Amino acid sequence: MNRWLEGRRALVVGAGSGIGRAVVDAFLDEGARVAVLELSREKCEAISETYPDMPVVAGDATTFAANQEAVAAAVDAFGGLDVLVSCVGIFDFYKGISELDADVLDSAFDEMFNINVKSHLMSVKAALPALEAAGRDHGTSIILTESTSAYYPGRGGILYVPSKFAVRGAVTSLAHELAARKIRVNGVAPGGTLNTDLRGLDSLGLNDKRLDDTPGREKELAGRVPLGVALSGEDHAWSYVFLASDRARGITGDVVHPDGGIAVKR
Ligand SMILES: NC(=O)c1ccc[n+]([C@@H]2O[C@H](COP(=O)([O-])OP(=O)(O)OC[C@H]3O[C@@H](n4cnc5c(N)ncnc54)[C@H](O)[C@@H]3O)[C@@H](O)[C@H]2O)c1
Repeated sequence: MNRWLEGRRALVVGAGSGIGRAVVDAFLDEGARVAVLELSREKCEAISETYPDMPVVAGDATTFAANQEAVAAAVDAFGGLDVLVSCVGIFDFYKGISELDADVLDSAFDEMFNINVKSHLMSVKAALPALEAAGRDHGTSIILTESTSAYYPGRGGILYVPSKFAVRGAVTSLAHELAARKIRVNGVAPGGTLNTDLRGLDSLGLNDKRLDDTPGREKELAGRVPLGVALSGEDHAWSYVFLASDRARGITGDVVHPDGGIAVKR
């Protein structure tokens, strides 16, 4: 059987649930070796129970140190790193600017951009030396998680939407900078997704609120897109597999949109 990621060595950040966890499972199925960086100790323990040999680092991806530790764990275990994926993210539950007091806006902005944007840059910064050292002829690959919110308003609030536009900008900027080093950088921009643990900002008191608990979410997700499908992390994972593989060797600075066709909505 010809597996798409045979021999590929990957680090998945934010891998404890939802899309990231589905990416881990799909990468393994496709022949990759996978290491993980995840904030939640409980989720790390669950991954280690399923995959006892997997390098799993419990740590905060907004810090350079945690990313460095995870990259080192991957390199120690696999002898190098070919692919970095980040699925880290947090949500604002559609809060508009008129709903946020100025002091709350101050702290919520910092929390949102720290988690949704800075963590991605810290992961890339820490992984760069290993990705460069891998020196694959056909290039190494970075895949960052955007959202339909990186393209359209209405699917997040005044903090989430700008944070995802920033990730989209990071993909373009990093692809431009790193192409000469044969590192491809692409995004995946999922639409609303089932079966994830995506939560709200602590600074808005929304840490315990899960987007997936929204009543009637499956029907609502299917009803809002032209294809009439409600997608899950398992659906999105194939976009990451493709972008990490040699089948995508000529693709950088681009985005796959597994979102049920929002761009062709009337
Ligand atoms: N759920 C959706 O509808 C949806 C839609 C489009 C895009 N997205 C994006 O997809 C990505 C994955 O989200 P998900 O829905 O699978 O949510 P999720 O909460 O299930 O997965 C995110 C994971 O990242 C971890 N994480 C959070 N902060 C971290 C940190 N500082 N360091 C390390 N790990 C951290 C969480 O513990 C969690 O395991 C996010 O970027 C999200 O914005 C989600």
